[in-house]
Amino acid sequence: MSGVGEASLVLSLISSIIDIFEAAQEIYDAASDAQGLPKKFRAAADQIPLVYHTLGLAEQNISARNVTEEALLSARPVLDRCKESASNLKDIFAKNIPAKDAPKAERLKKAMGLKMKSNKVKENIEEVLKSMELLAQNQIFQDAEALKDIKEAIEHLSNLTDEEKQPQFVSHGPGAIMGNISGGNVKTLSNTGSGTLYSAETQHFGDQGTKSS
Ligand SMILES: *[C@@H]1O[C@H](CO)[C@@H](O)[C@H](O)[C@H]1NC(C)=O
Ligand SMILES: *[C@@H]1O[C@H](CO)[C@@H](O)[C@H](O)[C@H]1NC(C)=O
Ligand SMILES: *[C@@H]1O[C@H](CO)[C@@H](O)[C@H](O)[C@H]1NC(C)=O
Ligand SMILES: *[C@@H]1O[C@H](CO)[C@@H](O)[C@H](O)[C@H]1NC(C)=O
Repeated sequence: MSGVGEASLVLSLISSIIDIFEAAQEIYDAASDAQGLPKKFRAAADQIPLVYHTLGLAEQNISARNVTEEALLSARPVLDRCKESASNLKDIFAKNIPAKDAPKAERLKKAMGLKMKSNKVKENIEEVLKSMELLAQNQIFQDAEALKDIKEAIEHLSNLTDEEKQPQFVSHGPGAIMGNISGGNVKTLSNTGSGTLYSAETQHFGDQGTKSS
């Protein structure tokens, strides 16, 4: 009896976390310029599908009653923290990512917040990914592939350099970045992982005035 109660508690916690990520994803998808967002915002958003996938695995396993009550009890505080990080992330997205139809003044105003919040975004998504790892350790799910992806994602995030120190946002002004990025060949920068690409990004912004396409 109590096992069923615990399971449904954990399942509803999982589904509330999924709801929060869905809302965050929606805000991200509605961004006026997703590619122009700070790298850490993009890297965080890139991990959302992996988080869905992992939570889905946990959900399936719990629904199949394959998870012991003990494991469920240990999962709860992990999921509570995960939910908090997910909420923080969603709130930062909601407050700082300008929507497609946002007026330029709003986009300019938000550009500063984007810069200031990118470390927070990174920290929160790292917390979420680490909770996924803990769920695996606590026997809520076991999936070698998902675990490997999670470890890689954590490593990838910890590898991200601090682009706040890059001059591009400052010297070209947020208006140019936010307003122009979607039109050009900046699309090719969707891979957030590589240092080579990143210097290409910087170079492109430097060329921006002359190389419009
Ligand atoms: C639950 O356990 C059963 C029996 O071991 C197994 O066949 C089934 O695939 C498991 N389900 C999940 C979702 O892991
Ligand atoms: C489901 O949970 C059980 C018990 O904690 C665990 O041993 C098993 O590996 C899990 N299965 C999957 C498919 O995650
Ligand atoms: C992280 O950086 C290390 C050292 O530079 C590198 O070997 C590794 O491949 C990087 N990992 C990811 C996932 O980017
Ligand atoms: C886009 O860039 C051009 C020149 O590169 C500039 O004249 C224009 O004002 C910019 N548009 C926005 C919306 O910032």
